Amino acid sequence: MSDAVRFLTGLTQALSASVLYGENHPAYRRAADAAFRQLQDLQKAEGTRLEFSFLDGEVVFRERVVHELCAWEWIPRLAEAGIQRIEVGGEAGPDEFEEFLDLLIGRLAGRPFDSSSIRHEGNGNLRFGHVSVHRMQPAAPAATSVLATLDYGLHEECQAIHWLHEEVSRSGRLPLLEAEVLVQSLSVAMHAERATVLPLLQLKDFDQYTTTHSMNVAVLAMALAEALELGSAQVRAVGVAGLLHDLGKVRVPREVLLKPGKLTDAERAEIQRHPAEGARILLAGDQPLDLAAVVAYEHHLMLDGSGYPCRHSQRDTHYGSRLVHVCDVYDALRTRRPYRDAWESETALQYVEQRAGLEFDPALAAVFTAMVRRWDHRVMAVPEVAVTAS
Ligand SMILES: [Fe+2]
Ligand SMILES: [Fe+2]
Repeated sequence: MSDAVRFLTGLTQALSASVLYGENHPAYRRAADAAFRQLQDLQKAEGTRLEFSFLDGEVVFRERVVHELCAWEWIPRLAEAGIQRIEVGGEAGPDEFEEFLDLLIGRLAGRPFDSSSIRHEGNGNLRFGHVSVHRMQPAAPAATSVLATLDYGLHEECQAIHWLHEEVSRSGRLPLLEAEVLVQSLSVAMHAERATVLPLLQLKDFDQYTTTHSMNVAVLAMALAEALELGSAQVRAVGVAGLLHDLGKVRVPREVLLKPGKLTDAERAEIQRHPAEGARILLAGDQPLDLAAVVAYEHHLMLDGSGYPCRHSQRDTHYGSRLVHVCDVYDALRTRRPYRDAWESETALQYVEQRAGLEFDPALAAVFTAMVRRWDHRVMAVPEVAVTAS
């Protein structure tokens, strides 16, 4: 990926994080910090004066079309908000970058037009607007970068996952960038020193199950991937796959999903459609999520070939599917359901150990159980998180 693509992607991740969480949230701070560093890298590689335009479905950087960003979802979003051009006139400091982001966020949120926000005649180094802007003046060199602070609850993430599911249900499309920002945010939470390692949410409402379960599986899957010493890109990909493994449930009737009693055969068949439905949604986007789609499809398949969807020939499932499967089952057992209490962690871990080699990949099961036992003193139960229904 070129530095220009990296900067624009980082910039829009910061914008997405602000939409999802607000500007005081650590996920936004972290994304803003990364975007600032990406701008500095780009300026080092390409010189300090930069120009981008977003028009007619194309991103143009220095009069060249950026092919990697063809059909990028942010082109119409920026253009519709009147951000058809971004110009950088020199080295900007972190405060100036921060202010620039704030103006962009305001513009995207449809804050009333304020001529100063376009800054056609401004003396800053960062500008955006409809048309080209000239006479930029240099400013003081960049000082220290923006630092993230970690002070976490996971309420915003809960809301964001809930929103993500609603969005898929409503439009049939996955807001990919937001899903990736969410996973980054969960990764920050997971590494925060005094914060939750695993949010074992005690749910007030069974309807919140898929939301919090998705979050728990994403966190567990990333932690397991790290314990297995996978690279950071794979850890992130596994996190996205964990977050989205049950996405297909948005296409299962709510009354079936929420039914507290015993399911009929027809109802069970409805629920068992969710792996294939999830894979379909994940493959239908502009940028198909291959790993997440495979994991969504295979996460109810056992090592010995049992489980669903039913397959005509037996072959091994993907490593990512086996990894998410352990996390999925553990979290399901740890969660209170309408028909049973939550299992104690140790009981759930013993179940995983007993089923290693039958249901679970034995090597993954061993690393997973050791990891959770190391963690247990750090696990925090977050009681009664309310997800606002929209
Ligand atoms: Fe599932
Ligand atoms: Fe699940």
